[in-house]
Amino acid sequence: MPKVSFYPSKESGDVSEGTTILDASEQLGIELKHDCGGFATCSSCRIMIVHGVENLSEIDLDEENMLEEAELPNPFRLSCQALIQGDVVLRIPDSEMDWSKGALRELNALPSLSRAIIRVIVEARARKAGEEVILPDTAIPAVALAKEEVDAIGDDAVALSALVKAVCEGSSD
Ligand code: FES
Repeated sequence: MPKVSFYPSKESGDVSEGTTILDASEQLGIELKHDCGGFATCSSCRIMIVHGVENLSEIDLDEENMLEEAELPNPFRLSCQALIQGDVVLRIPDSEMDWSKGALRELNALPSLSRAIIRVIVEARARKAGEEVILPDTAIPAVALAKEEVDAIGDDAVALSALVKAVCEGSSD
């Protein structure tokens, strides 16, 4: 049976092949938002794939449309749509942090994939440092640092996933 692991809680367990990520989370007692009830119409069940993207079902048209509308490129999936076919490591997006306008301006100037990954990196590091809220503009240098790291990797999805995993695990600060 495929093994599914969730960051940041590090809960993990085996689930039957063909289980959606959303159902797997429920089986493991993890709460994932799913405002539309699993119909691919809200994107609240978004989840970041840290490892094992190849072990999920293909993205169908409904999911693709919703991901596009919500500006959530690879490595994000909708947990109500993605079927688990092998081992996966997933990261549940944190609840929104309060970003200063300046830091958001820095972030919003970036392409959507970089923006999503940099936001995860900056927020993971902020939480590790005990900063629940990124204010005032201390996030600007943090965004610049994460941008440098992401730019250095380019569009190598495996290396980007490894960077996110390392940050989430605290081995790249
Ligand atoms: S629960 Fe709404 S898109 Fe998945």
